[in-house]
This record gives sequence, structure tokens and C-alpha cells, in this order.
Amino acid sequence: MLFWQVKKMLDGYGRNINYLRVSVTDLCNLRCVYCMPAGGVAKKEHRDMLSFEELENIVRAAAKLGIDKVRVTGGEPLVRRGIVQLIDRLAVIPGIRDLSMTTNGILLKKYAAELKKAGLNRVNISLDSLDEAKYRKITRLGNVQDVLEGIKAAQEVGLTPVKLNVVLIGGFNDDEIEDFVSLTLKEEIQVRFIELMPLGETAGWEPGSFISNDEVLRREPGLIPLPIKGQGTVARMYKLPHGKGQVGLISPLSNHFCHYCNRLRVTPDGKLKACLHSSREINLKNVAPEELPSLIMEGIMSKPYRHHLSREQASLTQRNMNEIGG
Ligand code: GTP
Ligand code: 5AD
Ligand code: SF4
Repeated sequence: MLFWQVKKMLDGYGRNINYLRVSVTDLCNLRCVYCMPAGGVAKKEHRDMLSFEELENIVRAAAKLGIDKVRVTGGEPLVRRGIVQLIDRLAVIPGIRDLSMTTNGILLKKYAAELKKAGLNRVNISLDSLDEAKYRKITRLGNVQDVLEGIKAAQEVGLTPVKLNVVLIGGFNDDEIEDFVSLTLKEEIQVRFIELMPLGETAGWEPGSFISNDEVLRREPGLIPLPIKGQGTVARMYKLPHGKGQVGLISPLSNHFCHYCNRLRVTPDGKLKACLHSSREINLKNVAPEELPSLIMEGIMSKPYRHHLSREQASLTQRNMNEIGG
């Protein structure tokens, strides 16, 4: 078997690396307070961003190395011009069995049907409050109604399972835990609570903002833990006794999942990041396609064993979340 046709790629610690997250833009139509500066970010030169051709070449090379799951993220991926065509191109790459997107959902109503037709399998949608005023406050710009309509559109066209990402912020939305959990009673939806990570904008936030996911279990003692289904998701899963949907807890601080981390990331300007919280990056922009496999391999082999994030220890990445995409 040729080196670049390997079907399974283990890193230096025996982890099977099969998941690539590509951030296709650092721009966004919202300004979530924990993610972006109030004034947004300066638009980069088009020539400094990965082109669709480069993105496709990277995913093709990664697929030959054993990547079978690809997530398109941002910034907000739906603000990148031509995003549906990009999905079209990625969906036909041999070996990719799961093509998904993480979006804030604002533009989903407009794009859901086209995305599905282009070959997108499913979406994860960020939604930190169900209350109109609080949603506006955290996103600085957004209208929660747009997201709710986006969720509906995604469900209708079958971009499922739909997962909602709720970043828990102490004193801001921890009073909505019950409302979010209740959504899973009647809806086939996954609500995932994510612990806020000290990174970029949030690096200096007061300790009270960072609350542990144990709080969810304290407030919702009726949640039943579900068996772990192999490697692949970072969420520990639960459900309500008669719930149609599920509740996931993503706990990068209180219960880090680095020992089974299976992912690589690519930033909009073409840097491969083997770990979300490391400052180490490998350039994939303006690189000949035949050089990509060895660079991706280098990334896989340099993946650190774990991050050392805590309430007191901010991420070592030099980037804000809008450039990495979660
Ligand atoms: P699924 O395939 O649906 O399980 O998606 P996912 O959870 O991998 O993707 P999503 O973009 O919805 O990620 C949810 C959030 O979990 C991210 O936005 C991050 O906040 C957090 N997260 C995801 N991957 C990592 C990781 O490797 N390390 C850390 N510390 N947090 C992560
Ligand atoms: N900590 C945890 N999650 C974050 N996200 C953005 N910034 C942070 C942070 N500091 C989440 C978003 C979205 C996903 C892509 O990343 O809410 O769901
Ligand atoms: Fe945009 Fe997502 Fe960042 Fe909010 S968290 S500003 S929706 S990229």
C-alpha cells in the first residue's frame, strides 16, 4: 500500500485521526461577545484565504490519509460566497462519509434546501439563549427568530440530526438550562452544553463566567446517561426518561477529552492546527497538491497529547475562535 493511500492514521499516541474541521471564513454576520471583538475583524485579502480549489485539494489529500468526517465551519460558513458550490465539491470526494457544518443558523432558512441538495449531511447550530433580548445581547446583532426558523428549515429538509450548541456562561444563561433541556422532550434534537473556554476574547473573563457542566446535572437530576458509542463525538450523552431528543455535555475544562481526540483543523488562511489550543501551525496555503499528504502527516504526528486549559490557564492558541471554528 502506498503511503498516501493509508486508510487509518494513528498519531503518536495511538489516536485514530479521522476528523477534519475546515474553517472557510473568519467573517461572521454576528459578533458573539465571547468570540469576536465588537467591531468585527478586518476583512483579509482574498488571495490570503484558501481558495475552493485549495480546500478541495486539502480534503482530498486528507481523505486518502484516513479522514472520513469533515466539518465546514467559520466564522460563519454561510457568509462565504459560493458556499453551496464548495459543499458540492466536498460531498463527492471519495472516502468522506460524514459532511457537516457548524453554523449560527441565521442564514439557514435561505440555504438549508440547497445545502442538502449539494450533499451536506447535517448541521450543528449555535444558540446560547432562547430569549430574544438575551440572544441579541450575546450576539450583539442577532434575531433569535431567524435561528429558530433556520432550525425548522434544517429539520424539514433532513439536515439531521440537528444539534444545538449552547455555550454556558455563568450568570448569563445558566438560568435557561431547564428550557433548553425541555426542548428534547418533544423534538428529535440534540442540545449540547459546552463549557466556555478561556481563549481569545474570553481569556481574561472573571472565574464566575466559566461554569462546569456538572451544573447541568445538578439542575437536571432526571437525565439518564447513555452508553458511549465509540470514538468520534466529544459530548457525553444523556436523555430525559421520555425525551425524543438527547442532551450532550461537552466539557473541555472539567473533563477534557484529549485522550480520544480524533481531529485536525484548517484555518481560513490555510494553517493546519493539530490541536485547538496549541500555537503550532503548519502552512498548507500555496502548497503543491503532491506536498499536502506529508504536511498533513506531519500535523498528525505532532499532535500533542493534551491541552492544559483551566479557568486560570488560557489557551495557547494565538487566534480568536472566529478563525478556528470551534
Ligand atoms: P459532532 O460531529 O456533531 O459531534 O460535532 P462536534 O461536536 O465535533 O462539532 P461542533 O462544531 O458542534 O463542536 C462543538 C464544540 O465543542 C466546539 O465548538 C468547541 O467549543 C468544542 N470542541 C470541539 N472540538 C474540540 C476540541 O478538539 N477541543 C476542545 N477543547 N473543544 C472542542
Ligand atoms: N468556548 C466554548 N465554545 C466556544 N464557541 C466559540 N467560542 C467558544 C469558547 N470560548 C463555540 C460556538 C459554536 C462553536 C463553533 O464554538 O458557540 O457553537
Ligand atoms: Fe459568529 Fe459563531 Fe463567533 Fe458567534 S460564535 S461570532 S456566531 S463565529
